[in-house]
Order: sequence, then C-alpha cells, then structure tokens
Amino acid sequence: MKTIIEPFRIKSVEPLHHTTPEERERYLEEAGYNLFLIEARNILIDLLTDSGTSAMSTEQWAAMMRGDESYAGSESFHRMRRVVQDLTGFRHVIPTHQGRAAERILFTVLCRPGHVVPNNTHFDTTRANIEFTGARAVDLPSPEAADTQARLDFKGNMDTAALERLIETEGAARIPLVMLTVTNNSGGGQPVSLANIEAVRRVAARHGIPLYLDACRFAENAWFIQQREPGCSHLTPKQVAQKMFSLADGCTFSAKKDAFANIGGFLCTNDDRLAAQETNLLILTEGFPTYGGLAGRDLDAIAVGLEEVLDPDYLRYRVVSTGYLGRHIADAGVPIVEPPGGHAIYIDAARMLPHIPRSQFPAQALAVELYRHAGIRSVEIGSVMFGAEARQELLRLAIPRRVYTQSHIDYVVEAILEVNARKQALRGLEIVHEPPFLRHFTARFRRL
Ligand code: F0G
Repeated sequence: MKTIIEPFRIKSVEPLHHTTPEERERYLEEAGYNLFLIEARNILIDLLTDSGTSAMSTEQWAAMMRGDESYAGSESFHRMRRVVQDLTGFRHVIPTHQGRAAERILFTVLCRPGHVVPNNTHFDTTRANIEFTGARAVDLPSPEAADTQARLDFKGNMDTAALERLIETEGAARIPLVMLTVTNNSGGGQPVSLANIEAVRRVAARHGIPLYLDACRFAENAWFIQQREPGCSHLTPKQVAQKMFSLADGCTFSAKKDAFANIGGFLCTNDDRLAAQETNLLILTEGFPTYGGLAGRDLDAIAVGLEEVLDPDYLRYRVVSTGYLGRHIADAGVPIVEPPGGHAIYIDAARMLPHIPRSQFPAQALAVELYRHAGIRSVEIGSVMFGAEARQELLRLAIPRRVYTQSHIDYVVEAILEVNARKQALRGLEIVHEPPFLRHFTARFRRL
C-alpha cells in the first residue's frame, strides 16, 4: 500500500467552533490585528504553534494517573530521568516548567555582559533570555538557507566558517557556549545534519567551548538524518538521536514539542559544578530538583512521550503529513521555505506579497487575512518577531502533533490558495503599540 495513514485512531474529540467572516473582522479589530490576542474559541484551525498542543496518547493519560506528587524524591522524576538519560546520555537532568525556564537558568549561570552566544538560529525566547543577561545572541545559519527556494537536505545547518571567524574576532573567552537548534525552528523548521553537529563540535571543542543542543524537535531532526544523510539509513531514529546528543555537552529541551506533553522541559549537562549552580537557581523559581515546576503527572507524560515520538511509523506520518500541506500549496504557486520541514510550513511572505514592503509586515498581513478568510491562526516569524534582526518575512503554519486530520489540512490548503488568488488586494500594517521586548505577543497594529 502506498497511502500513509495517521498511525492512531481517535478516542476523545473536541468540537470546533465556526465563526463568520464578519465576526472575525470584529475580533481582529478588537485584538489590534494580533492573532495572539484572539480568543482560542474563535479559532477554527489553530496553527499558531506545535508547542504544548499535541494530543496525548492513551499510554500518556494512563501514565498521568501514576504520577507521584511527592514534593521530594518523586517516582515520576526517576521515571522521567531514566528515559532522558537513556536517550541523551547526560549525567544531570534538571526538570523545568518549559523550555525557556531551562534557557533562563542556563544563560543566567553562563552569560555575562559582553559575552556572545552563537546559534544556527536562535528561537525568540532563547535570544531574549541571552540578551536579558547582557550577552549578545548571534545567528550563524548556513548561507544556503538564505535562498528559500533551494531544495537542500540540511538547510538548518550552522555556518562553521562563520563560527570560526566569530571565535577569532570575539575571542573564545567571551563565548560561554555554542548552541545548535534542532530542528532550526526560526530558520524554516529545517534539519541539521549529523556531519554539521560533528563539525560544530570540532570547532567548539578546539577552543574549549561547550556545545549545547536546543533539542525541542530532536526526533524530527533524527528522522531527517535517518532518511537523508549518507551512512545513516541503517540506524533507528533513537540511535540517531543518541548520536546527536552524544556530540553535545548539554541541552535545553521543551517537552511541549517532541515529547507530546502539554507542559514541561528540562536542562541537561555533564558538568557537575554547573549542575550545582543550576539546581540552586531552579529551587529559587521553579521548585525542588525532583519536580522543577511540574506536577509529577507531567513528568510521567514526558517520560512516555519521549519514547513514543521515536516510533518510525509516527515520524514517517509526521513528516509526510507536513510535506502534504507544503507540496499542495507550493505546487499551486505559493512560495514556501523549501523543502518542507518537520513541524511546520513557512510561507515566504516577502516573495508572495512583493507589493507590501518589509516595514509594513507582509507576513503579519497574510496571517491576518488567513484568519479573516477562514478562521485559521498562524504566526508571523519575521520583522514583527525579530525586528531589525529578521532575515526573512515568514508566515509559519505549525502543525500540532496528532491533532488534525487530512481533511482539516485540505481545508487549510483551500483557504491559502483562495487568499493567494487575490493577494494583490492585501495591504500592509503599522504598529501602534509595542512592549520593550518579545513584542510580537502583545503589539497592536493598524491596517494601512
Ligand atoms: N527553542 C525552540 C527552538 C523553540 O521552538 C521554543 C518554543 C523554545 C526554545 C522555548 O520553549 O515554549 O517550552 O518555553 N517554541 C514555540 C513555538 C513556542 O511556537 O515555536 P518553551
């Protein structure tokens, strides 16, 4: 059989709530054209994020009932740590309430004003947490990634020559760590090759700089390596993931992505001294080291999710279904970041809407229109999110794991193609209110 089907059936359902275009126009006005400020009940298909929005499995729900809610020494923590250590090989596993809490703790311990942290591409919270310490976050994506239309296997890679140059100009002493985000979320959800992780590790190690993975989507990245990288086809996704982690000195992780959990994260390191400092900070704001801001049941859901996500049937379905959305809109003329990534499709809004200048936020304008037209929520990853640091004007359609069926995605395809057919009529936006950082969450706009 050639048809690839969802490798699950549905046991519990949630109704969707329809609204009219007139109602949505009103909600948009009330929300200042910021989709983060629209109530979830007024969204039909929510592609805002793949984070915390997964459908959990029967095994995860069963594990939730086993959750040990002891304040100290919870069994749930030991179950979660066993799974994380088996997967990553890291000595210290510090649970946190989500990925950015792990980031804050890591950067608070490692970064000082004047420091520089390179990454293939920082996610917004990663950049913000680095900059909050007074350090500078520098993106070093591979040059091929600039061409959104190039169909290359590993466009998430870091530019290792640029990393060498950065270390030379800044001096290794000012670079407390090098990070690699797998998959490269802000860079179009593109994977990083094992060869690139090895090359980055070699450069970093030569200068005595630790390498950390921002491992949110490690399983999707492992699947791409297994499918695409020479010499890896005989490995299981888990073996690939283990190789990826074995090249790093630590990781930050948001369990809201590839662990199918609705909340959670962790921070790992092999460095005993660092782990002690991190644990002290953890206790200050997150909680005791065996729960770190999570309920015991959350730790159990993560433990089960981390094993389920490495099932080859699941990963094949995941990547094929994301590609289904990508191919159906791209082959009909909507420019996307090619090739489709693992967790999302990114429309190149600057290319789709050349009549809207970057200063008028073409991807935000497209997000607004897609909601107005069809009740679909997506997210801008461009100048609204990153300001002057933005390299591209992308609209991300992130696909929650195991949540939407193919007919939902067919509806999304139809809506995007209808908007594309009258794209000349779309107009840009201007910002009328913005906070001092992470402005995309609360900024308000006006239509031009
Ligand atoms: N790193 C990456 C690559 C991410 O994509 C995210 C979150 C984080 C770190 C932070 O994790 O949300 O658990 O604190 N990304 C979500 C998204 C929010 O929509 O892409 P968190």
